Amino acid sequence: MAENTRENRAPPDWYAAGLDHVWLPYTQMKTARAPLAVVSTEGVRLRLADGRELIDGIASWWTACHGYNHPHIREAVARQLATMPHVMFGGLAHEQALTLARRLAALLPGDLERVFFSDSGSVAVEVALKMAVQYWINRGVRGRTKFVAFTGGYHGDTTGAMAVCDPHEGMHALFAGLLPEQIIAELPTSDEKADALGALLAERADTIAGIIVEPLVQGAGGMLFHDAATLKRLRALADRYDLLLIFDEIFTGFGRTGTMFACEAAGVRPDIITLSKALTGGTLPLAATVASARVFDAFWSDDPQAALMHGPTFMANALACAAANASLDLFEREPRLAQVADIAQRLEQGLAPCRDLPGVKDVRVKGAIGVVEMARIDDVDALRARFVEAGVFIRPFGNIIYLAPAFTIAPDELDKLTSAIGMVARTGV
Ligand SMILES: Cc1ncc(COP(=O)(O)O)c(C=O)c1O
Repeated sequence: MAENTRENRAPPDWYAAGLDHVWLPYTQMKTARAPLAVVSTEGVRLRLADGRELIDGIASWWTACHGYNHPHIREAVARQLATMPHVMFGGLAHEQALTLARRLAALLPGDLERVFFSDSGSVAVEVALKMAVQYWINRGVRGRTKFVAFTGGYHGDTTGAMAVCDPHEGMHALFAGLLPEQIIAELPTSDEKADALGALLAERADTIAGIIVEPLVQGAGGMLFHDAATLKRLRALADRYDLLLIFDEIFTGFGRTGTMFACEAAGVRPDIITLSKALTGGTLPLAATVASARVFDAFWSDDPQAALMHGPTFMANALACAAANASLDLFEREPRLAQVADIAQRLEQGLAPCRDLPGVKDVRVKGAIGVVEMARIDDVDALRARFVEAGVFIRPFGNIIYLAPAFTIAPDELDKLTSAIGMVARTGV
């Protein structure tokens, strides 16, 4: 009798029947390899329909910071499901959302204290941009509608968010010229660059609503790192030219770079911050745009026109808020930031041998993010398949091979990920 191995195990019926009806993300559907059929998750592992188990190196686009299926989050969601999965947030409020808003306000630095919930990172960015433009309108200032954003930046896939992405690296080059025109500048990583940005702002400040940046790490635009001084320069420039400073912490928030939020490490307070991804510990879609008192005050009025006219149907979904509250419990109870520090050290050690390999351009680590930048990767799809053969799920893009695992990953699991990267870097990509 044939063994039930992956070679002879047929894909499940739902896979074969459904695959021709889905449109996959960032995928040329004609040429891409078929996606892996996953049947369950546990900890840092993905179990495939063919019986294989992969160690997940990227925690489902950096969301599952406590690992998959954490019992505390699962139980909180199950409890909420039994009482009230969802109610609209217009005219109704509920405990999970209000508790979460209060806890986020307490966690965030300074007076970032007014939370607007939505359901994805891109929408949280749209809300932040809209808030910033209306902030000026409400204050009686006309013409401040543009944003300064940065090369290497990525803020999402909706129209407003696409317009503040890097026009070339931000995945939306095809739309160049079709999106609202924004000012894409170089990050002020030195005093000279800050002077250049300052000169630009001096000329155009009266057309600019704000500056938007991913603090410390520009993720999907290339896993590029910058330092706290860069963010301090941005704060100083925003203050000098009276611009709102928006930190997009959708990737960096909730411990990823080593502190709960990247803005803490930099000691810089933005006027608006966007959060999503790890907000629910990777279980349910939820995002938040959090405004400082200064921003919120501009909307506080007897004039209905001064209200923020935004309200996603599923905003503040009770299941997602319950998951987020449970995720915050875990940050309080478990040594997540210490785990991130350990991961950083082990990533440094594990990826260091890649440094001297031919074809490797750079190796860098910040918090629980490890990056091996190759001079080039010829066939990213083939490389992804090689990782799967090695028992790991790692999803390189462009010239970047990176890890952003769950904070709960065990040392030997992390070593398996870094060894797999070492193996492919050594044998050529
Ligand atoms: C910094 C940043 N902003 C915004 C987004 C968009 O989030 P979403 O994919 O949930 O719309 C992402 C997603 O990768 C991100 O990394």
